[in-house]
Amino acid sequence: MENKSRRGFMGMAFGAVAGVGAVASLFAMKKSWDPLPSVKAAGFTTLDMSAYNDNELITEKWRGKPIFVLKQDVSMVETAKKSIQELERLIKIGDSYYMVAIGLCTHLGCIPGYRESTKDFLCACHGGMYDATASVTKAPPPRGLDIPPFKIKGSTLVLGEEGPEYKKMKKTGVTL
Ligand code: FES
Repeated sequence: MENKSRRGFMGMAFGAVAGVGAVASLFAMKKSWDPLPSVKAAGFTTLDMSAYNDNELITEKWRGKPIFVLKQDVSMVETAKKSIQELERLIKIGDSYYMVAIGLCTHLGCIPGYRESTKDFLCACHGGMYDATASVTKAPPPRGLDIPPFKIKGSTLVLGEEGPEYKKMKKTGVTL
């Protein structure tokens, strides 16, 4: 009788430990499901554009896709201003210019790597290259990196909303 109740107690204790473990692992799973802090609502990603540094590529996420954000330094802006096509690819917020694009090569979808020293992108899959505005400089990519729908709201950028600047880019063929 004593043994039985002891087993009963052990069983309950084990059950309690297993229960705590299950709750802990559920909590851990939920944490990994939670969106990144930059994600404010389903389908939209809000980026604080004041948080980026010149010539430092940051990869954000929007609807499961990598989003490149590259704040242009003075020399990049000067270079871009020499070509209207390149300048049109940049997003101007305040006095700063940003390249914001989906970080998937337009050839076959690899993720190009950014090289800070040469301020360009190299896609290791087939050697395609892009400049700092994500315009193609070397085939095979058929076009520059695609620009996600965006809306400028003060010093933030909301990905997933189509603001006037994005609509203009689509209309003029800057992006698909
Ligand atoms: S996938 Fe980038 S060059 Fe082919």
